[in-house]
Amino acid sequence: MNILVTGGLGYIGSHTCVKLIEAGYTPIIIDNLYNSKKAVLERIAQITGKCPQLYIGDVRDKKLLTTIFSNNEISAVIHFAGLKAVGESVTIPLAYYDTNVYGSLCLAEVMQKHKVYNLIFSSSATVYGEKNPTPYIETFQTGNITSPYGWSKFMTEQCYIDLQHSEPNQWSISLLRYFNPVGAHPSGLIGEDPQGTPNNLMPYISQVAIGKRPFVSVYGDDYATPDGTGVRDYIHVDDLAEGHVATLQMINRAGIHCYNLGSGSGNSVLEVIAAYENACGHPIPYKIMPRRAGDIDAFWADASKAKKELGWQTRQTLADMARDSWNWQIKNPNGYIDGKE
Ligand code: NAD
Ligand code: UFG
Repeated sequence: MNILVTGGLGYIGSHTCVKLIEAGYTPIIIDNLYNSKKAVLERIAQITGKCPQLYIGDVRDKKLLTTIFSNNEISAVIHFAGLKAVGESVTIPLAYYDTNVYGSLCLAEVMQKHKVYNLIFSSSATVYGEKNPTPYIETFQTGNITSPYGWSKFMTEQCYIDLQHSEPNQWSISLLRYFNPVGAHPSGLIGEDPQGTPNNLMPYISQVAIGKRPFVSVYGDDYATPDGTGVRDYIHVDDLAEGHVATLQMINRAGIHCYNLGSGSGNSVLEVIAAYENACGHPIPYKIMPRRAGDIDAFWADASKAKKELGWQTRQTLADMARDSWNWQIKNPNGYIDGKE
């Protein structure tokens, strides 16, 4: 069964392609290499023994999408392609709405023309905004979001909900709200490869652990959490990837299917640093800094709906996430390097 994977060379997309192949599916990738390298394809092939077909191009290119749907019998689409840096989205909001919202509309329009009605969308816990209590439940009202990135996910969800309602017996659309994906494939062949300074906690810690940066800035130690630092629901990227395979059960089950993909519990910044120290075997210097604008003290998922309906739950611990992140970091100190495969 062919699954079109937009953004399939990216961090979560590449891990999902591996899981898809292992589950017997055939991923076909479209990626414009904006935040990834072609070398990823080779790595997927090294892990699985199968090299997915790759179309290098943009999800906003309806002509290219038409070619892909005309030349391949696609059963479902998993839509990862997008921009994801929360801070950057405040500076260049139009780029975020263009790629994330318009790109998602182009994709759905071409799917509709080709009568492909199964869609899985990468959403985010950020849609729950600032006002909801934790743990987040899928039925909570979304909104009150602080970044254009978050609004782009909120808007895309709404566009897809309206589309599903317009052809309720056709579309099966799954909105997957990811919590904080970290870690890497245990082989160390694929992982997260941030360009420039990492925005997120674990990639930053891993660069301190390997000596590229002097210390971790801990953004605030006066939050209403047990140790005062921010608490998040970290999820191993392989568990997250398996969540997509589990969601493929929803193929041809018309409706909007919304799931939190998280572990159901949280860890503080200091706990993540401690787990990483255990993984790498040496202390990780850190400094307490002022709070980062837009951060909230704590959130984690109520992950019971995905467990009940998809039979999916996370299996890997924070220690596993730190171990696999470190393994990826030491095997690829400079990330992916094209042409050296
Ligand atoms: P990523 O940047 O590693 O992967 C995205 C991929 O999409 C990249 O390979 C990039 O080159 C490609 N891409 C970007 N714009 C494109 C376009 N216009 N056309 C075709 N390809 C394009 O990001 P990721 O961490 O793998 O995230 C995947 C999805 O999950 C994104 O939609 C992101 O918003 C969402 N998400 C990520 C996180 C997270 O913390 N990583 C959390 C919640 C949601
Ligand atoms: N943090 C630090 N130092 C750093 C980076 C982060 O102390 O260098 C702290 C943050 O203040 C926060 C925690 O570590 O308390 C996690 O921060 P991340 O930046 O790793 O993750 P966020 O929870 O801020 O955001 C991530 C993604 C968003 C997504 C959200 C929910 O970046 O895209 O998870 O899924 F929306």
